[in-house]
Amino acid sequence: MQVKIAPSILSADFSVMGETIKKLEKSGADLIHCDVMDGTFVEPITFGAQMVKNIRPLTKLPLDVHLMIEHPKTQIKFFADAGADIITVHYGACKKISDNYLKETLELIKSCGVKCGAVVNPDIPVENIFPVFPICDMVLLMSVFPGYGGQKYIEEVTEKITKAREYARSIGKGDMDIEIDGGVTEENCKKIIDAGANVLVAGSTVFKSADIAKTIKTLRG
Ligand code: DX5
Ligand code: ZN
Repeated sequence: MQVKIAPSILSADFSVMGETIKKLEKSGADLIHCDVMDGTFVEPITFGAQMVKNIRPLTKLPLDVHLMIEHPKTQIKFFADAGADIITVHYGACKKISDNYLKETLELIKSCGVKCGAVVNPDIPVENIFPVFPICDMVLLMSVFPGYGGQKYIEEVTEKITKAREYARSIGKGDMDIEIDGGVTEENCKKIIDAGANVLVAGSTVFKSADIAKTIKTLRG
């Protein structure tokens, strides 16, 4: 399966975001990962749909919007209108509201013509999102607790990747995107890919690099 690298702009300098987006595209990035944080579901506040709208005209790359927010359903329309190509929402944020909220939110995303995905934190079994695999274009397994870049990869997540890939295959969706987010480095990328992930988010690894193109190539395994 083709491995895709999604640099997270969370680790970028927000004052020169436009230049950064163009540089990422030139350096071979496959998607732009946009970390939206609301100060409630996670402590920090990053940016909202306006950022997505402003970077949309600067690149042809898909914009991968990771919503770390409470009540995600209320924001879908804004991110879809802003030009998101894929929107992922947290199982944990949805479960708090109702058992059906995750499925309803994913269906809402799809009804806006945008790809959808479900996310689980490191301490949530991947089995909890198996019921929505049939409607997901991607699933995102967090390999750190969300909120901050630069954390260490949680090793226990590797076996969740294998479980997710096996389950996707078992329902005839073997080529489904499985994304890993948090602590991805040039050292651990191979292990993550071998376990069955094909979309790797990388924040600090990409933005600390002196040669982003080379780092992206290495991350591809
Ligand atoms: C964490 C975010 C990540 C983060 C990854 O809450 O969802 O996308 O930017 O950063 P690194 O790659 O530095 O762990
Ligand atoms: Zn993210």
